[in-house]
Parts: sequence; C-alpha cells; structure tokens
Amino acid sequence: MRYLVFGKGFLGTLFGERVKGEIVYANANLVDYLDVVNEIKKISPDIVVNFAGKTGGTNTDWCDLHKFETISSNLVGVFNLAQACFQENTYLIHIDSGSVYDGDNNGKGFSEDDLPNFTGNFYSLTKAWSQQILKERFPQFLVLRIKMAVDWKKNPRNLVDKLSTYSKIITGVPNSITICDDLFNAIEFLGEKRLSGEFNVVNKNPITWEEFIAAYIELVDPNFSCTFISPEELSNITLVKRSYSVLTTDKLELTGFKVREVHEALRDTLKKYAATNK
Ligand SMILES: NC(=O)c1ccc[n+]([C@@H]2O[C@H](COP(=O)([O-])OP(=O)(O)OC[C@H]3O[C@@H](n4cnc5c(N)ncnc54)[C@H](OP(=O)(O)O)[C@@H]3O)[C@@H](O)[C@H]2O)c1
Repeated sequence: MRYLVFGKGFLGTLFGERVKGEIVYANANLVDYLDVVNEIKKISPDIVVNFAGKTGGTNTDWCDLHKFETISSNLVGVFNLAQACFQENTYLIHIDSGSVYDGDNNGKGFSEDDLPNFTGNFYSLTKAWSQQILKERFPQFLVLRIKMAVDWKKNPRNLVDKLSTYSKIITGVPNSITICDDLFNAIEFLGEKRLSGEFNVVNKNPITWEEFIAAYIELVDPNFSCTFISPEELSNITLVKRSYSVLTTDKLELTGFKVREVHEALRDTLKKYAATNK
C-alpha cells in the first residue's frame, strides 16, 4: 500500500514510523490547489491521508488569535485536498476532530449522526465546518474524528506530556481519548475496506483526568502531583473554552475493528511510555 501523507507534525510523523506499507510525505501546502494535484499525480498513491491542519501546537488558543491561517488550512486546505483527490480519483482519509461536542449527551455519548453543539473556540468551529463540507460534497471519502491523542513516545502534543506538565487539571469531567496505536490500526483497517463517511475513532468508554493521572502516577511517575480544579476555574485561566466530550464507538465496532477499552489501553500505553522514556 502506498500512502501519500499530508502533515508531518505529531500524528503524521508517528503514522509514518508505524504503519506497514510505503509512505511518501507531501511537500505541498494544502492551500495551493495545483501543487496538491501535482503531488498526487507525481506519487500516484493508493491512499491519501491528511494529518495537516492548524492546531495551535500545544494550545488551541492560537487558532482564535490566527483565524485567517486557521481557516486557510482547516477549511480551504481540506476542501482543496478533497477536490484534488476527487479530480485524481484517489481515496482520501481525512483526520478530523471530535472536539465539536460539549458534554456526554445525557450519558449516551455523541454518535456520528449528532450535530456539533460546541462553539467555544475557533479551532473546534473550523473542525465542525470541515466535517460538514466533506459530508455534503465528498461523501465517498473517510473522515476519522479523534480526541486528545495519547502515545507512548514523548511529544509536546501527546496528552501524557501535556497533562504531566500542568499543575492544575480539571476534575470530574468524562472525556473520550484516542490512543495513537489504535488510530493507526484503524486507518489501515478502514482504509483497506475503502469505507466512507464519518467514524469516531476513540477508545471505548470515557475517562476522567483523575483516572488518567492516577494511572500516570502508578505507572510512570510516583512523584507527580497537581491540583484538581473545576472546568469553570480552568476557563478563567485559558483564553477560550475547551471541549470536554464523550463520543460513541458503536459505528466503528460494527465494521469489525477491535476497539480497545480506554482504561486497559491507557495502562498498556503508559507502561510502554515509562519503558521507552526512562
Ligand atoms: N493530536 C491530537 O490530540 C488531535 C486531536 C484531534 C484532532 N487532531 C487533528 O489531527 C490532525 C493532526 O494533528 P497533529 O497533532 O499531528 O497536529 P500538528 O502536530 O500540529 O501537525 C499538523 C501539521 O500540519 C501542517 N500544516 C498546517 N497547515 C498546513 C497546510 N496548509 N498545508 C500543509 N501542511 C499544513 C503543520 O505545519 P505547520 O506547523 O507549519 O503549520 C503541521 O506539521 C490535525 O488536523 C488535528 O486538528 C489532533
């Protein structure tokens, strides 16, 4: 399988290190339609995977302060890439975000059929809009909605590294997270089947940050300590609101893909993290 990958950031780089098959990274800026088309023509991939987008690095506040750049990459760029893949008759897997929701939907979690209900920051708005555009105009492509990526390799964008640098962490809010190894397996599994439409790619069941930190202290750093604060207190510290949301995995499981339970998958990942980053 030959993959053409857009976006050599945190996830795009890890994908290239772990996936079976041939990987070529695109040089094109998504905003430049002709460059994107030429890249696809030159490489002639089986699958294009898009990990490119403006995320703000370690902090999505950046996107609220740089709306032009965020719209350019997360909307114009995504549209360009999908249109280029359509024109070149090439299958696209676009990595998007589940941070378009707020809450746990009265305990049910949000499915792929639920409309976004979170408008608290500009990053999440562009993600909701890009999902809508892809659904309306390019239903033949695959859109994977992930949340708060967790990996065993250190990176400032890895949730393990983010949380372990915070002195104040919110309490009592369930969240979905995505273990990177599961995301990469899902890309291979769903991509081989050439499935289309939106899929939530998160681990099964929500987790709270208290549970996350307890596992981190047990398996990685017994000396770690932090203060737990309410979401209201956190919103006084950050420029814009964060999305805390629970996504369902029923549609993903119906494909036959094995979705790991979040607490079990997190423990496996933290053990590997501790062994890898001694
Ligand atoms: N990591 C997570 O927890 C998480 C959770 C939910 C969704 N996602 C989504 O998954 C995707 C990958 O995330 P990530 O964590 O790997 O983000 P990342 O580390 O910020 O990487 C994104 C990459 O895309 C590149 N990029 C931005 N605009 C581009 C453009 N117009 N043309 C070509 N490349 C462009 C960036 O380059 P520059 O730095 O030069 O801009 C960067 O290398 C993003 O769309 C993100 O929103 C990630």
